[in-house]
Amino acid sequence: MASRTGHPAGAAGGREVLAFDLYGTLVDPIAIAGELGRLLGDADGREAAGLWRSKQLEYSFRLTAMGRYEDFCWVTARALDFALASVGGRLPDGQAERLVELYDHLRPFPDAVPAMRALADLKYELAVLSNGTPAMIGNCLDNSGLGEFFGQRISVDEVRAFKPSPLVYRHAAERLSVTAGQVRLVTSNAFDCVGASAAGMRTVWVNRSAAPFDTIGAQPDLTVPALDRLPAALGG
Ligand code: 2OP
Repeated sequence: MASRTGHPAGAAGGREVLAFDLYGTLVDPIAIAGELGRLLGDADGREAAGLWRSKQLEYSFRLTAMGRYEDFCWVTARALDFALASVGGRLPDGQAERLVELYDHLRPFPDAVPAMRALADLKYELAVLSNGTPAMIGNCLDNSGLGEFFGQRISVDEVRAFKPSPLVYRHAAERLSVTAGQVRLVTSNAFDCVGASAAGMRTVWVNRSAAPFDTIGAQPDLTVPALDRLPAALGG
C-alpha cells in the first residue's frame, strides 16, 4: 500500500475531494445478473450478464475512441441487445427496457453507506463521477439511500466522452473548482484508476475480489478490499 496522506485536505494541505465511481464501486450491478437468470435460466443469465457489462464498457471505449458520443442509457441498451443476441435470449416486449431501468435501482454494496457516513463525519468532501447520465446517477443515488452524502454529482455526459478520456477527469476537477491533484478518485474499475492517474488525480482502487491490477499505467496510490477500510487507509 502506498504512503498515506490522511486528512480531508489535499497533499499540499489544500482542499481535497473524494470522487467516487458509481457502478461497481458504490452500487452492485449483480442484481441484474439475477434478473437475467430468472428470465433466461441460470447459465444463460450469468453469461448474458457478463457480456452485458463487458459490452457496455467496450462500447463506451469505442465511441470515445471514434470521437462519437451516445449517452450511457443508450450504450447500456445496445449492450443488452448484443448480450441477448449472443445467448439467443428472447424477452417479452418491454422486458429489455425494464432491465435497463434496473440500473436506477441497484443496491449499494454493504460497505458503502457505513463508509460514506464515516467519511462525512470526518468532514471529507464527497462527489460522484460516473459514466451514467445525470438522471441515471440521480435516480441510482436516491434509490440506494446514498444521495444524502454527495453534494456534487458529475456525469461524463457533460463533456460527451466516457472514462478514461482525460476530458472526463479534467472536467471533474473544473466542476469541483480544484486542481486534478486535489481529487482522489475512488473506484473498483482499474481502467478508471489508470485514466484518473494519467490526468493527474490520486487514486484508490477498491479491490473486493483480490484481482490483479492492470499492467498498463500507474498503480493505484491506495488499494482497499472494501470501502469501509477507506477512512483508516486515508488516515482519517
Ligand atoms: C461508472 O462510471 C465506470 O460504470 C462505471 O460508474
